Amino acid sequence: MLNKIDSQRFSVDFSIQLQLGIIVKMDSYTDTTKSPHKNNDAWATNVRSIRVAEVSPHRLPPALLLEADPSASSISTYLLDSFCFAAIEGDNILGACVLQNLIDGVLEINNLAIFPELQCQGLGSLLLQHVIDTAKKRSIRKIELGTGTFGHQLAFYQRFGFRVETLIKDYYIDNYEEPVWEKGIQHKDMLRLSLTL
Ligand SMILES: CC(C)(COP(=O)(O)OP(=O)(O)OC[C@H]1O[C@@H](n2cnc3c(N)ncnc32)[C@H](O)[C@@H]1OP(=O)(O)O)[C@@H](O)C(=O)NCCC(=O)NCCS
Repeated sequence: MLNKIDSQRFSVDFSIQLQLGIIVKMDSYTDTTKSPHKNNDAWATNVRSIRVAEVSPHRLPPALLLEADPSASSISTYLLDSFCFAAIEGDNILGACVLQNLIDGVLEINNLAIFPELQCQGLGSLLLQHVIDTAKKRSIRKIELGTGTFGHQLAFYQRFGFRVETLIKDYYIDNYEEPVWEKGIQHKDMLRLSLTL
């Protein structure tokens, strides 16, 4: 969602981790149907074989994670204690959702990103629905996340029933080394959203 910062050091660290990365679970499904999303011309004409699988967070391309969170240090912090689902086609990761178990049946979405050229084709919805379904099976009672106060992400999450819980003023000013811009507007405050399952 946010403009990217220099990720060179982060990429070097990650390339080592990627060599060690393995798929830890293939409890997945294959979606060979057309996406239900209304703007989905690509899917309407091509039947693609996309599966969602749980993968090691360290297998995720850093550039993908930086699409949703421009802070490499922030990503490194939550990756240590996360698990992750990815949308995969063949051997390629197209998008991913990084999750963390909080206390008392609450799940945090730390990062949800689809590669830019593949956005708006239903992949983010596919991943998020998989996360919601899996959370229900694991007796999670609530999913939480933080996002900016404007942008298409809000509509995306609200379509799934997420509601605004609180606002953290100046979050992106206080916690990011560089200003975070989107469409010429600086992100300053964070909205905390939640979905009660
Ligand atoms: C947010 C994101 C994960 C959604 O995944 P996606 O595959 O693009 O979304 P889907 O195709 O499943 O759903 C499309 C809907 O999402 C929203 N959306 C997604 N990308 C959008 C874009 N570039 N512009 C406008 N709306 C967009 C819209 O609500 C759209 O519905 P609409 O076309 O009816 O308005 C993806 O756009 C992304 O990776 N963005 C960059 C990273 C990011 O911001 N992550 C969220 C962090 S809080």
